[in-house]
Amino acid sequence: MTDVDQAPPTTADAELDELYREFAAAGLTPLWTQREGLMPITPEPAGVPALWRWSTLYPLAERAGRLVPVGRGGERRAIALANPGYPGRPYATSTLWAAIQYLGPRETAPSHRHTQTAFRFVVEGEGVWTNVNGDAVAMRRGDLLLTPGWHFHEHHNTTDRPMAWIDGLDIPLVDQLDAGFFEFGADELATTDTPARSFSERIWGHPGLRPVAGAGQPRPSSPLMAYRWEHTDEALREQLSCAAAGHDATVEAGHAAVRFTNPATGADALRTIRTEMHRVVAGVSTAGVRHVGSAVWQVFGGTGVVRVADQSYEVATGDLFAVPSWARVSIEATSDLDAFRFSDEPVYEALGLARVEQEVAE
Ligand SMILES: [Fe+2]
Repeated sequence: MTDVDQAPPTTADAELDELYREFAAAGLTPLWTQREGLMPITPEPAGVPALWRWSTLYPLAERAGRLVPVGRGGERRAIALANPGYPGRPYATSTLWAAIQYLGPRETAPSHRHTQTAFRFVVEGEGVWTNVNGDAVAMRRGDLLLTPGWHFHEHHNTTDRPMAWIDGLDIPLVDQLDAGFFEFGADELATTDTPARSFSERIWGHPGLRPVAGAGQPRPSSPLMAYRWEHTDEALREQLSCAAAGHDATVEAGHAAVRFTNPATGADALRTIRTEMHRVVAGVSTAGVRHVGSAVWQVFGGTGVVRVADQSYEVATGDLFAVPSWARVSIEATSDLDAFRFSDEPVYEALGLARVEQEVAE
């Protein structure tokens, strides 16, 4: 039966079909049939806004702690947040990995290094030390701990209690760039020392001061491996206090924020991942902002309502949410809210692809 609305095939159509068949046979694809997908008007990430609740994550990690040993091969008992926009892939966003890592009492996670850049952020607990290139770094609530690319690292729990924290890495980015290298370290711990302050903090952890020794040495990622909560907390508190006294100190009214930086350069602490802590005062709604590039946030304390693109989440301590590229995000604090944010912005800035659209506060 002939469809009356459809024009009969012409010689030109048949020739075009044949051309497309020959394109395919020759391993070719014409731009004109795919331009919109390849060159969208604005970014069209496959990743979607997504929420993971700490009250769900922690008990599941605890069960994994009982059932799954940690050791050589698997290397880490880390459970990745998988964005539904990347089915079957352990990606929180197109470039960022985020996982809950759980280490049982007296457990050790073995030494290795990789080209992927990593950090740990601790929402609760203490008692684990991460040895970074042999330097023992204590992990405590509110601390940001770095393991820049190609630094050997291992974790050991010195207590009779389990500990869980968030690992953030650029695994999806490095995967897409085919730049992954991995190396196993020694089977024995580099050190079992448990100092309150690592060597890196004793050398680099003094505000505004850097050692003269080795001043000419390039330090593309931070030589300081730990950023302590007491410093972060004080910086945020002082911003709000100075803003209340009329100084230009906060991002916007009732919204303080700090960025973790490399003390040798002032740039981001890590080369591929931006790390920040935000504090939003109860009752304040932050102005909407969207970035090219993606981010993951974890609520460190307090409660609020988070809006990401067309999604809205009520969040509390430990909850994580993913913000895809160019999705508008705003936070309404229903109690004083602290939130840790990490993003891939340094990559976009280095490539000349960064864009930010900031709404003006009402
Ligand atoms: Fe690792």
